[in-house]
Amino acid sequence: MQKIRTSPLHSDFAVEVHTTVMDILDDPDAIEELKSLWQKSPVMIFRRQSLEESELVRFTEHFGPCETTGRKDIQSPYQEQIIYFSTLKYADGRFVGGFAGGDDVDWHSDQTYQVRPATGAMLYGTEVPHDGGDIYWADQYAAWERLPKDIQALIDGKLGTFRYAKRYEILNALELKDKEKANAMLSLPDARHNLVLTHPRTGRKSLYADPTTLVAIEGLSASEAARVMPILFEAGGDPSGVYRHKVHNGDLLMWDNGVTMHRRDEMRLDQPRLMKRTTFRLSAGEYSAPQA
Ligand SMILES: [Fe+2]
Repeated sequence: MQKIRTSPLHSDFAVEVHTTVMDILDDPDAIEELKSLWQKSPVMIFRRQSLEESELVRFTEHFGPCETTGRKDIQSPYQEQIIYFSTLKYADGRFVGGFAGGDDVDWHSDQTYQVRPATGAMLYGTEVPHDGGDIYWADQYAAWERLPKDIQALIDGKLGTFRYAKRYEILNALELKDKEKANAMLSLPDARHNLVLTHPRTGRKSLYADPTTLVAIEGLSASEAARVMPILFEAGGDPSGVYRHKVHNGDLLMWDNGVTMHRRDEMRLDQPRLMKRTTFRLSAGEYSAPQA
C-alpha cells in the first residue's frame, strides 16, 4: 500500500513529498517507496522539517554511503559527513561553513570532474536568507529529448572529458580560496563519462554535459566539439525543463546529480544562513551512474 503522498512542482521531474523525514526514517517499506519515487522524480522537496544532524546522516545513508570531506574548515563539528554553508561566524571570528560569497552560481552538476562522482545530494535549510538564493534544477531527461536527432546520434555512446580547471576558471570567485587545496584539485586527472546516461530502472536517457567541466568529446575534433558543446549546454539549461525553488527554513532538498543540473541566484550576505549538506554515492544498479 502506498504510504507517501507527493504533489508535482514541475511535472514529475520535481515533487513535494508530504511526509516528515522522522515519520519514515525507521520504516523500511516507506524508504523503499521513496527510493522508487526518487528514481522517477530526481528532485524531491520536504517542507518544514526538524532534523538533528545524526538524523540527517541516517536518512542519507538509506540511499548510499555518505562522503566525508577532507575540508575541516567547513565540516560540522558534530557529524563528519555534514558540511555547512553559512554566513555565520564562531565566537573567534572564523566562518562556520564554506562561505563562498553571495554571487550567483551557474548551471552545473556536482563532482562531474571526479572519476567516480557521488551523485546523491541533500541540502537542509536550517536558516535561510529571506531574499535571493533561489535554487533551480534543470531536467536532463528533457534536455536529451530536446536535442536535434543528428546531435543525439553524434553523442550517444560517446565519452566526454571533464576537467576541474575549467570550473575553477568559471567559478573562480566562489571556488577554493585555499591555495594548497586549489592546487591539489587542479592537478586531478581528467574524468571521462558517457555523455548520455540510461537509467537502470526506468530505461530513460538523459544528457550528462556539465558546462563548467566538459572540455572535449571523444572522436570529435576540437572544432567539431566547439560546435556541438554549446548545443548541449543550451539544451541542458533550457527554461522549459527548469524548476525554480524559493528555499524556506526547514526545507530538505534532495536531488540526483546524474540526471539534473542546478544553479543558484545571488544571495544576500547580511542575512543569516546555515545550510547543511550531505553528499552520497548512488549505486549504478539503481540510479544513472556517470562513470564510464
Ligand atoms: Fe552544486
